[in-house]
Amino acid sequence: MRMKATIRTAVFPVAGRGTRFLPATKASPKEMLPVVDKPLIQYAVEEALAAGARRLVFITGASKRAIEDHFDSDQELEKLLVSQGKNELVRQLRSVLPSYASCIYIRQPAPLGLGHAVLCAAPAVGFEPFFVHLADDLIEGEQPCLAQMAEVYAEVHASVLGVEQVPKKETDKYGIVAVERGSGPVRRLRSIVEKPKPAAAPSNLAVVGRYILTARIFEHLERIGRGAGGEIQLTDGIARLMQDEPVYAYRFEGKRYDCGNKLGYLQATVEHALAHPELGAPFAAYLRRLSRDI
Ligand code: G1P
Repeated sequence: MRMKATIRTAVFPVAGRGTRFLPATKASPKEMLPVVDKPLIQYAVEEALAAGARRLVFITGASKRAIEDHFDSDQELEKLLVSQGKNELVRQLRSVLPSYASCIYIRQPAPLGLGHAVLCAAPAVGFEPFFVHLADDLIEGEQPCLAQMAEVYAEVHASVLGVEQVPKKETDKYGIVAVERGSGPVRRLRSIVEKPKPAAAPSNLAVVGRYILTARIFEHLERIGRGAGGEIQLTDGIARLMQDEPVYAYRFEGKRYDCGNKLGYLQATVEHALAHPELGAPFAAYLRRLSRDI
């Protein structure tokens, strides 16, 4: 029987400044924007932990201190809550980061792109395969997206990219892939290109912020120069990687919210509020009243 491969490390590139949410993100990281009662980065970490990750590597930049504070314990706050008898809140705070997980913070010295951010994680990742998770893409599924991808990895033992179909006119917002013919959600990659114009796009299958990569990607990221937008693109590194070894695209099950833009973020907020155990019913009643007035 084949050994079940566990992927232990997850990389969270969180250095981007979130200019689309200014001024909210001037002094506070976009990854700390809450969806109902948890910041985006906590959804990200929970998804990685559920997929088996234990070492969490954050690639940070300016104004990102709040992320470190969020995953650190706050003894003073816990003492205060205990003295007030708020034990449930203490439990919730402690569960933000389980004791079996550890965090590593690496500063990206300059905003040179996603590929460069991932390369900054190399010393913490070593030679094992690893997850890359972009917190802007919030994905809800019965089984968390990275856990689905870890199962695919256990079958194919190669890099896996989470993909979904997007409207053709939006291909210039994503890394776009072409895959081999076949059936089923797992397909070998034939090509990948960063943010092509719709007319030049090889398909409308977009990479949406979930990756399992083999450590060989680092060799390529070291060598590639700047690509689209003058940045070192992860997509270009993957294009080189697939010349050395197979790379797969996986159409995950679940719903994605693009929290990198205001409308997607609002949709995530409304739908998470409707699904919330305490808020769901009163919030639905409120929306019904409101929609009568619009
Ligand atoms: C990045 C990647 C792109 C990917 C996207 C997913 O782009 O470069 O290939 O499709 O994330 O959200 P960004 O959204 O950072 O511009």
